[in-house]
Amino acid sequence: MQDVKIISTASYNPPCVVTNDQLTTLMDTSDEWIKSRTGISRRHISQGENTADLAVKVGKQLLINTNISPSQVDLIIIATMSPDAYTPSTAAIVQGRLGMANAVAFDISAACTGFVYAFNTAELLLKSTAWQTAIVIGAEVLSKLVDWHDRNTAVLFGDGAGGVLLKKVTTTVPLTLGRHWQTYGQLGDKIVAGQTKPGDHFPKELTALSPFTMAGREVYRFATHEVPASIEQAARVAQINLDAVDHFILHQANVRIIKQIAKRLKQPLTKFPVNITEYGNTAAASEPILLAECVRKGIVKRGEIIALSGFGGGLSTGTTIIKY
Ligand code: ACO
Repeated sequence: MQDVKIISTASYNPPCVVTNDQLTTLMDTSDEWIKSRTGISRRHISQGENTADLAVKVGKQLLINTNISPSQVDLIIIATMSPDAYTPSTAAIVQGRLGMANAVAFDISAACTGFVYAFNTAELLLKSTAWQTAIVIGAEVLSKLVDWHDRNTAVLFGDGAGGVLLKKVTTTVPLTLGRHWQTYGQLGDKIVAGQTKPGDHFPKELTALSPFTMAGREVYRFATHEVPASIEQAARVAQINLDAVDHFILHQANVRIIKQIAKRLKQPLTKFPVNITEYGNTAAASEPILLAECVRKGIVKRGEIIALSGFGGGLSTGTTIIKY
């Protein structure tokens, strides 16, 4: 049968590292508070690189070690909540800069769930069209949306990008075994960033974008209840027991959330790789960055079963269980 395979993975984080101690010069916080409440020690922050710049670096890396040329890419989807502009889409900028002239390109906006939605959208489009090759990237420069004096949010986020290259193949094993997506629009005000407001007739000034705000405790409760439920539902669709999952690649929002989810799913923490210590929460980029690192380090191997699960703005959840 015709299905889809992950041919390569890649990630990029800007070189500038900001430690928790450095943040104490900007706001009333401490290394001890940030580490004990979130598990974050450092984050990588862009110095002038925008979201498309990060995504271009990942897009280039994805083609290295494949025999695929830029003109053979049929589809580019970028998941981001921090695009360079309302238009053109970040994916269109990447398409132009990488000379992928035959690729259709568009963005998906679903905050930290965005990568899962983009990944499955690309997979389903490849399976239902004549397209052969797709690039899916999660890319964020959240530092441009954060109020760097608001300790409730600023300590949590970082910048980065990660992605996968998907190719149609003849195989006996499908890539996706089961998925579960859900949107909770009535909880939309719990995570807001970049809100715009229309002015009066012919406003004299451009409307400003609002910085990041989050109802931390409520989002914590949401994540620790709805993410395990989403993973369990995806496993039911896949008709597998959770014990069969080799790795849970979860959105990296808070190490305490990951521990709670592991506990609720009755799965050992060793199955939950974590890199939030180094990067903080990079929203749509966090899962593909972690996946690329796990592949690079040999933690994730061919044939293993992986549950990719994201949650965040919307509010939203999304899980896809794949055979890598
Ligand atoms: N440094 C020091 N103190 C702080 C800081 C800080 N950076 N931030 C908050 N505090 C204080 C608070 O003011 C509060 O003080 P008070 O008791 O005097 O009022 C105290 O610390 C405790 O605050 P809480 O909000 O209860 O802390 P909590 O243990 O809940 O941790 C956190 C906060 C880390 C935000 C947690 O709630 C969380 O992780 N929430 C989920 C976040 C998440 O998952 N986001 C994902 C989606 S993001 C997206 O979609 C892009």
